[in-house]
Amino acid sequence: MAAAVSDRIATLSAGGGLVFGCDYNPEQWDRSVWPEDVRLMQQAGVGLVAINIFGWSSINPSRGVWDFSALDEIIGLLHAAGIRINLGTGTASPAPWLTAAHPEILPVGEDGTVFHPGGRQAYCPSSPIFRDYAAEVVTRVVERYGDHPAVSLWHVSNELGCHNALCYCTTSAAAFRGWLRERYDDDLDALNRAWGTTFWSQRYSSFDDIDVPAQALSLRNPGQILDFHRFSSDEQLALYRAEAAILRERSDVPVTTNFMVTAHIRNLDYWTWAGDMDVIANDHYLDRRLDDPRGELSFAADLTRGLAGGAPWLLMETSTGAVNWQPYNLAKAPGELRRNIAAHVARGADGICFFQWRASTQGAEKYHTALVPHAGEDSDQWREVVELGGLLDRLGEVAGTRVEADAAVLFSWESWWAIENEGRPSEGVTYLGQLHAAHAALSDAGITTDVVRPGADLDGYRLIVVPALHLITDDEAAVIARAVENGAVALITFQSGIVDEQDRVRTGGYPGAFRDLLGIRSEEFAPLVPGQTVALTDGSTASVWSERFKTTDAEVVAAFADGPAAGGPALTRRTAGAGEAWFLATQPSRDDYRALIARLAETAGVAPIPGATREIEIVRRSNGTDSYLFVINHGDSDAEISLVGHDLVTDAPATGLVPAGAVRIIKEDV
Ligand code: GLA
Repeated sequence: MAAAVSDRIATLSAGGGLVFGCDYNPEQWDRSVWPEDVRLMQQAGVGLVAINIFGWSSINPSRGVWDFSALDEIIGLLHAAGIRINLGTGTASPAPWLTAAHPEILPVGEDGTVFHPGGRQAYCPSSPIFRDYAAEVVTRVVERYGDHPAVSLWHVSNELGCHNALCYCTTSAAAFRGWLRERYDDDLDALNRAWGTTFWSQRYSSFDDIDVPAQALSLRNPGQILDFHRFSSDEQLALYRAEAAILRERSDVPVTTNFMVTAHIRNLDYWTWAGDMDVIANDHYLDRRLDDPRGELSFAADLTRGLAGGAPWLLMETSTGAVNWQPYNLAKAPGELRRNIAAHVARGADGICFFQWRASTQGAEKYHTALVPHAGEDSDQWREVVELGGLLDRLGEVAGTRVEADAAVLFSWESWWAIENEGRPSEGVTYLGQLHAAHAALSDAGITTDVVRPGADLDGYRLIVVPALHLITDDEAAVIARAVENGAVALITFQSGIVDEQDRVRTGGYPGAFRDLLGIRSEEFAPLVPGQTVALTDGSTASVWSERFKTTDAEVVAAFADGPAAGGPALTRRTAGAGEAWFLATQPSRDDYRALIARLAETAGVAPIPGATREIEIVRRSNGTDSYLFVINHGDSDAEISLVGHDLVTDAPATGLVPAGAVRIIKEDV
């Protein structure tokens, strides 16, 4: 069902084409504002509105009391205006009466701190009490609105696990034990082996003695931590499934929840969630804490498309300008909103929704930007929003087209958890840091890339990049080896293939899972300290990592010229079957990484998109008949690119000029 509905995201709003939507929290406003809201939504072309996301205390103000009058009215107003509804189940945050009556549902942090209500999401994900009350809310909502013609999407909860993904309370501990019994088939010896509990006298003699990996005096057991991550992701998914089952029993409307494929959330393994979604929806905000926020946006968008199996997806939330939850909440630069939105659409979004409709005047998010700013209608921000609505409307014909990629990057949440587990070789190696570096190199080289799950079918990808894929199963490694045998070029980078699915080191020389494929054998890691760089014999500069290894059946393409692994190989190549397997033992500078990718792409026969550079992002979407080229100039200088077709941004024939900061979306003459 997922792919089918994803292909029809356009049907989620009345206008067809690309969806333009937002979160709407009318309960924060006097009823007199609502008709004005609807009028402005129509003016901007908003076609899909998410409501009742945080509705619990409004519709169920005290135990046993239900009041749908406001929701009835707002749904009626939106429906009359032809605006479709993305209806929240209302369970994102429990009403205060519930946590007051049942303080035992409050979540607990790893240091034992009980998190009090007063913010949001103050519940233990495993709490049966919370789950029962939430089920009643969902049931009431679907029974009341399940057949309403305006309801076109169900929005389960909100960003499940955003704050409460890891709960360390006694209820969670009991649920963890139950989950472990299932995973290990009630075999305690299997668990002891998996976690290596002979180490530091951690051997269990009963499942009942196992606890959550709460704060400890020393480093904790990595196997236990890894399984706790798996368990915690599954518990959140169980919350989704419980609500979705109630909805599906009573309604045919597609069901989803908003993912957080973003740099600062890592607790949910969305590969295991995606199949439960009728539409893949993601929330994404520029993260100004990163060196390259827009590079992260592009990676997240490609990963979201991967979760959708290549089909179009929905950007469920983003911001028009600043957020309010980073240390420095920067305004977007002129044109940046348009560039961000173009990048999402270029990479497969068929809908763009914002958090939120009208900027709040109260509450924790009152300084978060919105479609209607505090300044009101007479503002540059509002005019920009109306303009954006017009652009999305003109882009309607792009809906349903797909991004085509000859290259794939492998990404895994399990690897993320494992590589950043306690007691690791270097804190300087962050999983996303390695993913972003590889993705940026591909993007700078003009290579459009899918982001796929280890184990996914790699047929059809001629270039495969495997950055720091620390944890991998034998079967998943075999898929990569097969792809190489069949003719692909694979670049595998340091720290890949080191541990098995239980975080156990594969012995006999690193990287155990890829040693034969790469024809190398590594004996010792030699990480670099922050700021330290090393030179390679091919003239490139690198940082973060080096290691001491030998080739057993590979050619040395470049060696370390200095640093702790001086004289040893840094970049190797092995021909395997019809393809090539390359190993990269360090992180090259951005330019050097781009040059390496360009070289590998050429070897693989993957043609870059002409004109793409670090500053000029170019991606193509097509459907076999029509083809759309998205050109985004992130730089400070005008660019000249050969473009032939009709520019949907200017609604005029394309010229080659892409001014600094501008976006061009060309329907190509084919
Ligand atoms: C998330 C939440 C929203 C809101 C925004 C603010 O995406 O889902 O409720 O808090 O963040 O950026």
